[in-house]
Amino acid sequence: MTTETPQASGVSDVAGAETLTITDNRTGKTYEVPIEDETIRATELRKIKVNEDDFGLMTYDPAFMNTASCRSAITYIDGDKGILEYRGYPIEQLAENSSYLEVAYLLVHGELPSQPKLDKWTEEITMHTFVHENIKEFMQGFRYDAHPMGMLLASTGALSTFYPEANQIKDQELRYMQVIRLIAKMPTLAAFSYRHNKGMPYVYPDNDLSYAGNFLGMIYKMSELKYEPDPRLERALDVLFILHADHEQNCSTSAVRSVGSSQVDPYSAVAAGVAALYGPLHGGANEAVLRMLRRIGSVENIPGFIEGVKSGNERLMGFGHRVYKNFDPRAKIIKKAVEDVFEVTGKNPLLHIATELEKIALEDEYFVQRKLYPNVDFYSGLIYEALGMPVEMFPVLFAIGRTSGWIAQWLEMIDDSEQKIARPRQIYTGGRGIDYVPMSERK
Ligand code: CMC
Repeated sequence: MTTETPQASGVSDVAGAETLTITDNRTGKTYEVPIEDETIRATELRKIKVNEDDFGLMTYDPAFMNTASCRSAITYIDGDKGILEYRGYPIEQLAENSSYLEVAYLLVHGELPSQPKLDKWTEEITMHTFVHENIKEFMQGFRYDAHPMGMLLASTGALSTFYPEANQIKDQELRYMQVIRLIAKMPTLAAFSYRHNKGMPYVYPDNDLSYAGNFLGMIYKMSELKYEPDPRLERALDVLFILHADHEQNCSTSAVRSVGSSQVDPYSAVAAGVAALYGPLHGGANEAVLRMLRRIGSVENIPGFIEGVKSGNERLMGFGHRVYKNFDPRAKIIKKAVEDVFEVTGKNPLLHIATELEKIALEDEYFVQRKLYPNVDFYSGLIYEALGMPVEMFPVLFAIGRTSGWIAQWLEMIDDSEQKIARPRQIYTGGRGIDYVPMSERK
């Protein structure tokens, strides 16, 4: 609780205390605000008033640059040290040893599963990969060239109409059912949107295959009786899903939490996450990397391009990160996956340009000084392209992996007694009390 003292207290007598002393120079009053987890509660500032009618002090923080919106035990990031952990487990170890479904279990349940628990989880998800035929028909109603991400967004939201009981979000059993369905059906919706865009018949899930293998089957299967994924592609895709599974309070996760805070069903909340990911600043950077590499065209053009970046005329896409200022741990893992995929598909000449570009940039003073390193998107686009994906599918693939993170965050939010419906404040900048002007009198 904020305590109010009549005049400013000296700094020395509170040294060591886990509090912040604030003096309001408008009134001369001093307030002591508790510090917990190196954070002060913004609502404590409301007690700082000029008079009793005053609303109280607010903080102004567009884009939540310095405001924690929740307490979370799901994903830890240390941007300076290049650390990413899910439930405390380093991403490197998970990418090396785990499967996407095991990681999804970890994110949702908070701990790694025993073998029987993993088997049950995998079985449940596998048994829910099919979607209602009406969903298929709904998707077939889209224009022939509909953007697959728009189709994924709409069909994820549409699922809520097939499972109306999903709005009983406090019912643990029903809630669990929707968690399983969402993780299970996302690849099916994603693959249907791909096939639609290509004008190809939709392929139903094959429940003999793994999560990633089944997705590849629904993408590639033609007339063969049984699709058998190349294990190297299957593993590379599974690793990509692991790397994208969660990234704490990013734009789409915040959208899921914010929309979910209205207590809407999880399909609608996750659809909000898909919508956020549709935006080029979130799910679209890897596409920009590919376009950039194509534009550079050959290794000889790299020095000229780098000069353009340094003079501010260009941006080196796939470099730099708001949080990671040392390296993006996902970028290291993805580089290895690139090699595995190209072993199967043959090398893409753009890889040569990418590796040369990375080498030159990492040695250049401009990038070193600004702590600019390759991020996850520098190489992910190359993998997706090697897998035969058009650029429109890149955010769709991202969404499949991110679904488990969105759900884990949604579940955490629902059970957090401190969470209420999201409702930011504003600083009003418009006019006040203006009399209505009849149309005939307006200029
Ligand atoms: N190329 C050239 N210069 C850059 C780049 C870049 N990619 N990124 C940052 N800079 C410069 C920037 O111009 C500024 O220089 P100066 O101090 O001289 O003005 C300095 O580095 C600091 O940059 P900033 O814009 O303040 O950094 P930020 O944290 O606001 O931006 C970023 C982070 C990711 C938006 C930015 O680095 C960027 O635009 N990168 C390229 C796009 C990209 O790859 N995005 C994918 C991010 S990873 C996705 C995910 O995690 O989901």
